[in-house]
Amino acid sequence: MATMTSLIGLINKIQRACTLLGDHGGQGMSLWEILPSVAVVGGQSSGKSSVLESVVGRDFLPRGSGIVTRRPLVLQLHKTESGTEYAEFLHSPKKRFTDFVAVRKEIADETDRITGKTKQISNIPIHLSIYSPNVVNLTLIDLPGLTKVAVEGQSETIVEDIENMVRTYVEKPNCIILAISPANQDIATSDAIKLARDVDPSGERTFGVLTKLDLMDKGTNAVDVLEGRAYRLQQPWVGIVNRSQADINKNVDMILARRKEREYFETSPDYGHLASRMGSEYLAKLLSEHLELVIRQRIPSIIALINKTIDELNAELDRIGRPIATDGGAQLYMILELCRAFDRVFKEHLD
Ligand code: GDP
Ligand code: NA
Ligand code: MG
Repeated sequence: MATMTSLIGLINKIQRACTLLGDHGGQGMSLWEILPSVAVVGGQSSGKSSVLESVVGRDFLPRGSGIVTRRPLVLQLHKTESGTEYAEFLHSPKKRFTDFVAVRKEIADETDRITGKTKQISNIPIHLSIYSPNVVNLTLIDLPGLTKVAVEGQSETIVEDIENMVRTYVEKPNCIILAISPANQDIATSDAIKLARDVDPSGERTFGVLTKLDLMDKGTNAVDVLEGRAYRLQQPWVGIVNRSQADINKNVDMILARRKEREYFETSPDYGHLASRMGSEYLAKLLSEHLELVIRQRIPSIIALINKTIDELNAELDRIGRPIATDGGAQLYMILELCRAFDRVFKEHLD
């Protein structure tokens, strides 16, 4: 278990190396194809950003009614042994954020830097890393919500633009999909389930997440969905109660929110019998177990890819000459060394 935790940490490092590689001619992109990530998919205001925050156990994402998330956010969680939590953005790597209110503001500001203060969206991702003793190692992707119509200030093609953007993330076979559906809407009309079924017909990498259980009409419940009878998925459904807008306005913190969520399930006449398999913390546990499984299956292909990258980098270095100074060659050389180090570590994990 401890070994697997460090392995997922390594995966996070590789993804950073990939970003570097991607900047240097795209050799790194194929690594992305095999490394797992977790993305949230769903309609606007279905609770995607709220679910991601709960899984992380930290308040840092812009949330609210309307189109708040307007650029993909690639979030890497790094478990540290001890020390204070801090966050770092790839666009300002030297700045450490310890105030998560400032992190949320920076996400909003960085979104506006590309899109302006509009309702437009951009497919250029924001990369954020969080280092903390209180997280599991995961890469999570927050995405703009699927919509049905363009609103004032948006282009005519926004509906397809968003769907295409979301698709580019979730169609990758290595992407674990959190298909978020609000319980106060008919599951049969869920955009999340529709898209997930489209890109993952077997359902092996789709987790159904049902939010807003607290907002269902009195006298109705979602037991049929949560027990997999209404819509069967390969993986189990997880019910969630996130903070309401009123809770957000009152600054209800994560610890209180999680406690209220746990109490909700434990005391619920409808869901009491399912309480141990419901809620944000259970979802986080389920996800990390699934990731460990997936990563272990992929070690051989990761090693093959790293070796291919090493060969390509060597060929490239032979062509441009070995580095003498801090030029492009020096950077390639550094990446090559990084790949070699990763290769050694991965081989140690082959048992
Ligand atoms: P996103 O647009 O899908 O990222 O959704 P957000 O996470 O931004 O949430 C949209 C709104 O729905 C916010 O006002 C949240 O407070 C509210 N919300 C999300 N999940 C729940 C939930 O489970 N229960 C309640 N009552 N409100 C929720
Ligand atoms: Na929203
Ligand atoms: Mg959002």
